[in-house]
Amino acid sequence: MSDTQKYDIIVIGSLNADLVVRSPRFPQPGETISGGDLLTIPGGKGANQAVASARQGANVAMIGRVGKDNFAPLLIENLKSNNVNTSHVAQDDSATGTAIIIVDANGQNSIVLSPGANGKVDFHDIDSAPDAKILLLQFEIPMDSVLHAARRYKANGTTVILNPAPARQIPEALLTLIDILVPNESELSLLTNMPVTDVKSAELAAQEILKRGVKTVIVTLGSKGALVVTGTQATQVDTYKVEVVDTTAAGDAFIGGFASAMLNNKSLEESVRYGCACGALATTKLGAQPSLPTKEEVERFMSLQ
Ligand code: RIB
Repeated sequence: MSDTQKYDIIVIGSLNADLVVRSPRFPQPGETISGGDLLTIPGGKGANQAVASARQGANVAMIGRVGKDNFAPLLIENLKSNNVNTSHVAQDDSATGTAIIIVDANGQNSIVLSPGANGKVDFHDIDSAPDAKILLLQFEIPMDSVLHAARRYKANGTTVILNPAPARQIPEALLTLIDILVPNESELSLLTNMPVTDVKSAELAAQEILKRGVKTVIVTLGSKGALVVTGTQATQVDTYKVEVVDTTAAGDAFIGGFASAMLNNKSLEESVRYGCACGALATTKLGAQPSLPTKEEVERFMSLQ
């Protein structure tokens, strides 16, 4: 696709090299334990969401930054091989973003991020980016840049979807620009300062967010699926039961699947159900981008349920 055309989806966000070790359990502070082989896997919430969308057939461009080290070509090549346009991924003298990830025997993870070049994404990167129908944002680049991106694309009539991860507070100016907010339970709890422990409490907290200017909140609830809350109703959407190997990037798979389904004119609920299938499938494989399902895999999986 030429850069003067509108993309289906633009992702402005992070690219990380995920340094992954499987471990029988998480170590205690001060403790050393032995795990499996070290794996270097393409990741980063932004790049994961770009690949997740492209594998569902969307035309996607990634906007972000990498360094000039050995991780950079690994991340760029993986995006390209998944048909994600990378002509707006800049290279600078920082280190490429890295995530140190431990995956335990239950498939749960623990992550420490080193933002590197992701922390340098600036207004220029955003202003020179192409137009799109949907903008996907997360919190692994500077907050000022997230806000600038939301402002720029909102002014063009683009649908702005924010995944407020890793969890942090959202400036009020940003909230009013968001069409669809996709937090998990702990992110929603932090945003509202309210306990979110079940579907009812998630609904109450999501309603608080709606009062602050967001149009739709979709709370991802892990094995309980997702809760869609709009100004007029709250609907819980069930997910699928699978054997969990690694939950890394399940939320990213959900968002890419959800956004692609919306582009295919599915209803809000159908799109969330589709996103749940993508998220569930992503948990059945190790790693971030290698675990993201294709359109064919998702359709086959859903037809067998
Ligand atoms: O959402 C999963 C991602 O979070 C990983 O790929 C890792 O890079 C961290 O950013």
